[in-house]
Amino acid sequence: MIKYLSKTPRKALSGVALLRLDFNTKDDWRMQAVLPTVRLLAKTASKVVIVSHRGRPEGGEIVNGMPKGFPANLHLNRDAKLLAKLIKHKVKFVSHFRFGEIKAMVARAPKGSVFLLDNLRFLKGEEANDPAFARELASLADFYVNDAFAVDHRANASVAAVTKFLPSYAGLELEAEIASLSKAMVKPAHPLVLILGGAKASDKLGVIAFFKRKADWFLLGGGSANSILALQGMDVKQSFKESDPKILATLAAVAKQKNVVVPEDFVWHKGAILDMGPESIALFRKRISGAKTIIWSGPLGLIEKKAYAKASIAVAQAIGRNKKAFSLSGGGETVMFLKKYRLDKNFSFISTGGGAMLDFLAGEKLPGIEALNTPQATLKVR
Ligand code: 3PG
Repeated sequence: MIKYLSKTPRKALSGVALLRLDFNTKDDWRMQAVLPTVRLLAKTASKVVIVSHRGRPEGGEIVNGMPKGFPANLHLNRDAKLLAKLIKHKVKFVSHFRFGEIKAMVARAPKGSVFLLDNLRFLKGEEANDPAFARELASLADFYVNDAFAVDHRANASVAAVTKFLPSYAGLELEAEIASLSKAMVKPAHPLVLILGGAKASDKLGVIAFFKRKADWFLLGGGSANSILALQGMDVKQSFKESDPKILATLAAVAKQKNVVVPEDFVWHKGAILDMGPESIALFRKRISGAKTIIWSGPLGLIEKKAYAKASIAVAQAIGRNKKAFSLSGGGETVMFLKKYRLDKNFSFISTGGGAMLDFLAGEKLPGIEALNTPQATLKVR
């Protein structure tokens, strides 16, 4: 059983907290989503040690506990400043990984202190899910909170192995993610409409398989639609499409499903489809307006350019007009687009997950959530 922070007596949360967050975005939207958890722990825990990753660092090394030679933009010093500004509370950035020293510093610090360690992916043990490294992390705290849904599909030490060493809880955002995504998956209100775009079809196939019999409509755009149209004999010219024969075979089967809709008219530029045309927008709108549950992942055109963002904007507006539906969206690119055009409020829930959301919606077990779900943590490390 997962233990949720929201349902845990404050007394159990009075020691030092190790809080795993995911700051791996260009702007601060993932940070914004977890502020309630940070604020709650800053009040209840004696001290909070926050850990996160950013990007996929390569090439650097750790010298005397100090990360050297990694790209400057993958360090978390700026995140510490930003977080401090958002929570109006000092956040001490810790630039080294000398765990003995960190432990002593945390012990000396006044009650209510908040620390942020540097990018955990600078250390090999993180992605290797190394129990020895997880134990070291755990030694900094009395209990652990995971509010990093976006990385819960990775079996990383600070997400998975760490739960073996500390009493572990799901944070407020993770709780909302599990509840909201599950709402769309388990007995969803019908009609259930999935809108799937983005360049690659490969990362959506699991979701299509999970919802094959549950969805009333799949409205496909982007690379999945182009690939299906090509399989049906249309000349999509230079448009992005899949070339892997296995993915194409799966898409050929998807194309035969009666609940699959692909665009009928297009906005072309230099021989490539860059957006859907007005008739397709009208077709999508019709399905969206009658839906009771809506899931959207992946833009329908080249949204970086306003000229090719029309279909995505129209679809987000149509979702906003349907007040009866429970609607959710997620994925870095889609969320940044929705925020840019102030369309994010049109949704009942915006997931902080990209790959994690797609894996969850495909019915897969996420290592970070599984780790919270298993019998817990009694190995004494402090
Ligand atoms: C994400 O942005 O999807 C997560 O932070 C996970 O990052 P990753 O794909 O590099 O593991």
